[in-house]
Amino acid sequence: MKAAYIRETGDPTVITYGDLPDPNIGPNDVLLRVAAVAVNPIDTYIRSGAVSMAADFPYVVGCDVAGTVVEVGPAVRRFKVGDRVWGSNQGLFGRQGTFSELAAIDEKWLYPIPPEMSDNEAAAGALVGLTAHLGLFLHGHLRPGECLFVNGGTGGVGSSVVQLARAAGAYVIATAGTDEKVEACQQLGAHLAVNYRDDRREDRIRAFAMPHGGIHLWFETQREPTFDRTISLMAPRGRVILMAGRQSRPQFPVGPFYVKDLRLLGFAMFNASPDEQREAAAALNAAYESGAWRPHIGAVMKLSEAAEAHRLQEDNTLGFAGTLSGKIVLNP
Ligand SMILES: NC(=O)c1ccc[n+]([C@@H]2O[C@H](COP(=O)([O-])OP(=O)(O)OC[C@H]3O[C@@H](n4cnc5c(N)ncnc54)[C@H](OP(=O)(O)O)[C@@H]3O)[C@@H](O)[C@H]2O)c1
Repeated sequence: MKAAYIRETGDPTVITYGDLPDPNIGPNDVLLRVAAVAVNPIDTYIRSGAVSMAADFPYVVGCDVAGTVVEVGPAVRRFKVGDRVWGSNQGLFGRQGTFSELAAIDEKWLYPIPPEMSDNEAAAGALVGLTAHLGLFLHGHLRPGECLFVNGGTGGVGSSVVQLARAAGAYVIATAGTDEKVEACQQLGAHLAVNYRDDRREDRIRAFAMPHGGIHLWFETQREPTFDRTISLMAPRGRVILMAGRQSRPQFPVGPFYVKDLRLLGFAMFNASPDEQREAAAALNAAYESGAWRPHIGAVMKLSEAAEAHRLQEDNTLGFAGTLSGKIVLNP
């Protein structure tokens, strides 16, 4: 099979697109004919070596996948040959990744694709949709009528947070870096979208949030959180989610935090159990079917362009290039 793989960690040029042996399936595995994959920031951290999760080399890159079942192991119960499925959480903890024509994946990480959903949408929504859902509901306990803030409302995670929070009955505030992206945030469902480069952004957020009592759930997608600013905008007993910035060591205003009875919540989606991820996936499928959630696709490329796709993701996540709005999807 053709695959995008690495034999050593390094910059995007370490990715080779070439032939590898077809994978063997275990008893609980499903063999997929891959139709689409999507890039996530963590793919680039693993490829670069910043996060040491690359399995045995050659290591196929990538977490997200959508495809069709072509073979099932003897213990597989949920899927049969011909089913269209999506999944994430591959390429982690010793598992091989998804950027290949065929992928052997334990059925516990796979979910049916709704009939109306394209393979590209299914791959694009995988890791970011699960992350948004787990953050908002498993960890953040978002309730209808609460005020939700998210930075980067057109980003991979942010665009799902905006849509899912709006569908859950929250008042949604999002930021973005250009006027076009501010408008896109509104189209995705944000009640208030502000340009994060606007000097008046804080006043505008405060004016919107304070009639609701402040921000009840702050979903921070940035690697360098600004706690003084965040805490001043929070409602008493509000929750702040941190989910990015492994190297980040920001100053923390302890006094303003505790006198408001605030809570700080951290999570990484890959720590969620297969049952927790399956529950989130079922909710995402239902949200897709009801029209409440559409994965936001920013670029579609060929699998053979995996190295360029990594560079584009990296330029944006680490380099703040602002040239991407949504997910990069690749097709074999
Ligand atoms: N803990 C977990 O389980 C988990 C899961 C997924 C992702 N993550 C992490 O979460 C982060 C976001 O991931 P992603 O896939 O959503 O990345 P992404 O698609 O690259 O989105 C990044 C977003 O950040 C916005 N942004 C850039 N500079 C900003 C600023 N100064 N103020 C406010 N927003 C700004 C961008 O907005 P513009 O495009 O408008 O500039 C963009 O929307 C990454 O660091 C990733 O590693 C963690």
